[in-house]
Parts: sequence; structure tokens; C-alpha cells
Amino acid sequence: MIKVWDPLQRLLHWGLVASIAIAWLTGEDGEALHEWAGYAALGIVGVRLIWGVIGPRYARFTQFIRGPQQVIAYARDVVQRREKRYVGHNPLGAVMVLALLATTAATGITGWLMVKPERLAMLPEVSAFITPAFADSDEEREYGEYGEYGEGSMEALEEIHEFLANLLLLLIVLHVAGVIYTSIRHRENLARSMVTGTKRSPASDDIA
Ligand code: HEM
Ligand code: HEM
Repeated sequence: MIKVWDPLQRLLHWGLVASIAIAWLTGEDGEALHEWAGYAALGIVGVRLIWGVIGPRYARFTQFIRGPQQVIAYARDVVQRREKRYVGHNPLGAVMVLALLATTAATGITGWLMVKPERLAMLPEVSAFITPAFADSDEEREYGEYGEYGEGSMEALEEIHEFLANLLLLLIVLHVAGVIYTSIRHRENLARSMVTGTKRSPASDDIA
């Protein structure tokens, strides 16, 4: 066996799972617990980004992020059932890692923005950029408490937050499906590796 996932990386992974689960379960009533769970997820993503630059080998983005050609080649291999076993993240898994981190960050940031009108008003260009269709949908435009773009921006932001949360759920389902599929293909329990940190040593054919 070899050590692959370091302790901080594993802690961040399961911390992210827990915080997103709590945020999901408490989203409907927007209570304090929901906001704190969302901030926890945001914080975890922030630490993970730093760890991806300064962390050990298998935590580093440069170890597992591949260009589109390699991702497509790997996907083709999966379809033809001849993909190689990767000790770190495989090329498709790496794309999912980035999608999960980005969607979590976007969900958390839109949540933060919509709690207080001042926050949205602080970023008028952003609100015009993400909600142009709503930009002049309200009388409060120009002078209202939501800043230059009116209450419509706030409603649009809520829609976007909800959309991102649903997108995140979809990505998580695909992520877990990918983990199960790859576990079966290479006869190893990848979820357990995310707990213990160890994986079977690479064979000559594997990518370490
Ligand atoms: C809220 C739900 C989840 C989120 C947001 C999430 C997110 C992530 C992220 C960001 C990574 C990259 C880890 C890193 O490089 O530090 C990852 C990897 C991984 N996750 Fe999850 N995950 C979730 C749920 C799960 C669940 C339920 C399982 C167990 C079945 C799981 C198993 C794994 C495994 C095995 C890896 C490593 C994949 C590999 O071997 O390349 N995840 N996940
Ligand atoms: C990754 C983190 C987050 C996830 C997965 C998430 C998810 C959700 C979901 C599913 C809803 C319910 C949408 C609906 O059907 O109406 C929601 C609503 C909401 N979220 Fe989040 N959220 C996150 C982060 C945050 C953060 C950081 C904040 C604020 C600091 C926040 C504030 C709110 C508010 C105010 C609502 C509206 C509640 C209401 O309808 O009264 N969220 N969120």
C-alpha cells in the first residue's frame, strides 16, 4: 500500500461533505445554521485552493489537472473499457474536482451576497452583469436600498443561488457515481481510501 491522500486533504473532503449536507438540509428557511454551514464550505474551498499549490504531491493541482485532449482521450478509453488506473485523481475525476470546488464557491458567494442588500449594492457592476434582465425591473432602481439595480437583482440572485445549489447536487450525484464506477473497475474501495489515505501500490501499467 502507498500513502496517497494526506490527512488535511481527507479532513477537508469530509468537512466539505458535512457542511454541504447541512447547508442543503437547512436551505429552505435560511436560518443561521444554513449560513454558517455555507461559510464553512466556502472556507474549506479556500483552504483547498491554497493546499492545491503548497500541499504534498497528490494534493497539488499540477499533479492531476490535465488538458482537454488528455481528458477526452481518457473518456474515450473509459467508453472502450481500457482506461488506466490512476493512483491520484484520474483526468475525468480532476475535472469533477474543479467543477465541485467552483460550484460550491459560487453557491456560497451568492448566498453571502443575498443576505444583506448592502452587499449586493456594493457590487453594482456584478449585479448588472449577472442579472441584466432584472436590472430595471423595479421602481427602486437608482435610489433603492438594493442599490442601482433594484430589488429585482435580489430576487434574481436568490434564483441563481437555488440554481447553483441544485447544480451542485447534480454534480455530487455524478461524482459519487464516478467513484463507485471506478472502484468497481479497478477493484478497490476509493471511498475507504479517502478515509484511510492509502491505496494499493501502482502496478507497472498504472499511472502514479
Ligand atoms: C457533498 C458531497 C461531496 C463533495 C462536495 C465532494 C467533493 C470532492 C472533492 C473536491 C474531491 C477532491 C479531493 C481533493 O483533491 O482534495 C473529492 C474526491 C473524492 N471524493 Fe468526494 N465529494 C462529495 C461526496 C463524496 C462521497 C459521498 C464520497 C463517497 C462515496 C466521495 C468520495 C470521494 C473520493 C473517493 C474521492 C477521490 C477520488 C479519486 O480517487 O480520484 N465524495 N470529492
Ligand atoms: C455551499 C453552500 C450552500 C448551499 C449548498 C446552499 C443551498 C441552499 C438551498 C438549497 C437553498 C434553498 C433554496 C430554495 O429552494 O428556496 C438556500 C437558500 C438560502 N441560502 Fe443557501 N446555500 C449555501 C450557502 C449559503 C450562504 C453562505 C448563505 C449566506 C451567508 C446562504 C443564504 C441563503 C439564504 C438567505 C437562503 C434563502 C432562504 C429562504 O428562502 O428564506 N446560503 N441555500
